[in-house]
Amino acid sequence: MRVLSELFDHNRQWAERIKQEDPGFFDRLKNQQSPEFLWIGCADSRVPANQIVDLAPGELFVHRNVANVVVHTDFNCLSVLQYAVEVLRVRHVMVVGHYGCGGVRAALEGEGSGLIRNWLRHVRDVYDKHEDQLVSLDSEQARFDRLCELNVMEQVLHVCQTSTVQDAWARGQSLSVHGWIYSVADGLLRDLDVCMTSADEMGDIYAKAVGATPSSPARS
Ligand code: CO
Repeated sequence: MRVLSELFDHNRQWAERIKQEDPGFFDRLKNQQSPEFLWIGCADSRVPANQIVDLAPGELFVHRNVANVVVHTDFNCLSVLQYAVEVLRVRHVMVVGHYGCGGVRAALEGEGSGLIRNWLRHVRDVYDKHEDQLVSLDSEQARFDRLCELNVMEQVLHVCQTSTVQDAWARGQSLSVHGWIYSVADGLLRDLDVCMTSADEMGDIYAKAVGATPSSPARS
């Protein structure tokens, strides 16, 4: 099939609906965007950024990849971050993981082949860093849930370590970096209490968050 007519039909209906609800909507958007938020999340189709926080086009800048990983040599993610912070001047960056993440599961179980195995090695590195805590948990489900959480906390730290965020904080720009996790099972977000707003507090907040006793029920 060369043309996915069903999706174009959906698109026309969607645009029509928006125009009926708010006739000036597209006119306002066409010249600029001024989102306050950058969402760095998983590519999983069950975790659609705008819908989860019920924000309209123009309100959320988004970067998604498998298992919401922030790597210091990934110029795709770093470019999104730099543009969001320095040009759009977002006030909040949120790394959003989710329970039941297939990428995290593959990293936990040592699965996956080809290129993606190298990508997921970054998540396996998170496992290795926190192996003592993870093996002390009493079920495979608990380890899976906790690795989903720890992966978010680790990526929050990576965001804070970038030159973009360090420079923003050094010049006094107001910027908060948050770590959240989403449950596909109930549609709810949970704050992992790892919010960082300056270089000074990074170490303490990270240590407190990763050292906290996991208390979440299995959510995947
Ligand atoms: Co995922």
